[in-house]
Amino acid sequence: MFGSNVLTYDRLESTNKTAADLLSNAKVAHGAVILAREQTDGRGQRGSSWRSAPGQDLTLSIVAEPKALRADAQFVLGKIAALAVYDVVRARVPEHVRIKWPNDVLVERRKIAGILIKNDLVGELVLHSIIGIGLNVNSTDHDEELLATSLARETGHPCQVPEVMQDLLDRFNHWWAKWEAAPEEGLVSYSDRLWTRGRWADMVLDGAPIKARPMDVDPLGRLIVEREDGLVSAFGTDRLRFAGR
Ligand code: BTN
Repeated sequence: MFGSNVLTYDRLESTNKTAADLLSNAKVAHGAVILAREQTDGRGQRGSSWRSAPGQDLTLSIVAEPKALRADAQFVLGKIAALAVYDVVRARVPEHVRIKWPNDVLVERRKIAGILIKNDLVGELVLHSIIGIGLNVNSTDHDEELLATSLARETGHPCQVPEVMQDLLDRFNHWWAKWEAAPEEGLVSYSDRLWTRGRWADMVLDGAPIKARPMDVDPLGRLIVEREDGLVSAFGTDRLRFAGR
């Protein structure tokens, strides 16, 4: 069960870093959660940093040792995390919650949560995974340029961080169990919750702006898009991203 062992820190650089250090010394195993009240060097996607308000937002990393997960199927871990975060937000914010491929959670155009996953591979299998999740809970003074939001901002009232964390872990356990029970169909809800699915969106392909219509995600985690010339193809995050932030 994820969350049966929660290691809580008042202040650290990054929960993902601490999780990696603990894993390398065999101090944590499958199911452990590293939780920090404050991160001094929170890390984001594509080398960015992740800022959150000390004591007000949720920053944690989940340690997983999946059984026989092939490296080429590792995107399921992102789906599980994104679905869990989506559910937590959707339970509190009734409308406009979406998963922005690959695994941000938005309310309308504003980002409320980010996920950073680091997998250690051995041969063709995923040995360990560190699933870092940052969810804005009570922070409200977001830099306007970042187009961020939080649960408090969306609901108009503060939320209890420990309660939100427990809900997140419960939902993570739920989606993990669904995936284990039905690896092919258990996570199809991810596709239904995709931001701009079926709508034309501004994207960047190999550095050039394009209009594309996200359709679905393939088993490798690549976004399947239709382009203006009608061509349908799948691209990974190495080639395709949404325009903007
Ligand atoms: C993103 O850029 O969207 C990903 C942000 C991930 C932030 C979380 S906070 C907990 C964990 N520790 C980190 O240093 N990063 C992740």
